[in-house]
Amino acid sequence: VTELPSLVTERLAITLLQPAAAEPAAAYAAANRAYVAPWSPRRGDDYYSHDFWAVHAEQSLEEWRSGRSARFVLSLASDPACVIGECNLTEIARGYFESCYLGFSLHHRHTGRGLMTEALSALLAFAFQEMRLHRVSANYLPDNLRSERLLRRLGFRKEGLAPAYLFINGAWRDHVLTSLANPDPGFLPALAGRPA
Ligand SMILES: CC(C)(COP(=O)(O)OP(=O)(O)OC[C@H]1O[C@@H](n2cnc3c(N)ncnc32)[C@H](O)[C@@H]1OP(=O)(O)O)[C@@H](O)C(=O)NCCC(=O)NCCS
Repeated sequence: VTELPSLVTERLAITLLQPAAAEPAAAYAAANRAYVAPWSPRRGDDYYSHDFWAVHAEQSLEEWRSGRSARFVLSLASDPACVIGECNLTEIARGYFESCYLGFSLHHRHTGRGLMTEALSALLAFAFQEMRLHRVSANYLPDNLRSERLLRRLGFRKEGLAPAYLFINGAWRDHVLTSLANPDPGFLPALAGRPA
């Protein structure tokens, strides 16, 4: 994949996080701060500023270009200038792993409409078909029932409970580990068949 990706679904535009979106991305983070707090690391006030998101977007582009992550912002097709969510593929590992982590959040006013299911269906198709990944991991707090339902709807399978897995909302917290593998049964890593 060489050019900057953007995905279009029935109701959404899903675009790679770029410096031009720093303002609406910061506004989204601020508007959703309280809603995501139980499921997120604690952030300082600077996290909600334009300057933070301008730098973060530059770093994200650099990570995309070097193949380390793909961070996207979500907008309604009817209001493309406003960010209403994000979904990220991070810590991409290649070789014989071809794996990454999935993260996501949606503006509290837009939950309950299937928008994240729609976004992640497109993102996962992109991850498996275009980015040629084998495995996407997604991990959530045991009481994050909306994430649990969302991931189950998308076909993720539970792998177990990891004790004290992530430092979230001020403490090391257990997480349910789930993953989804590339549905193509014939999918091979790019390295397959090459000499070790
Ligand atoms: C996790 C999160 C994105 C899920 O949001 P969501 O609105 O439940 O997910 P979706 O957009 O896919 O919507 C699904 C809901 O809409 C309903 N829905 C309505 N129309 C739908 C449609 N066309 N397709 C699918 N679901 C639809 C579903 O029934 C479901 O509601 P239910 O769970 O009460 O049954 C959101 O709660 C969030 O941002 N949480 C905070 C951040 C967070 O926890 N991130 C993950 C950390 S691991």
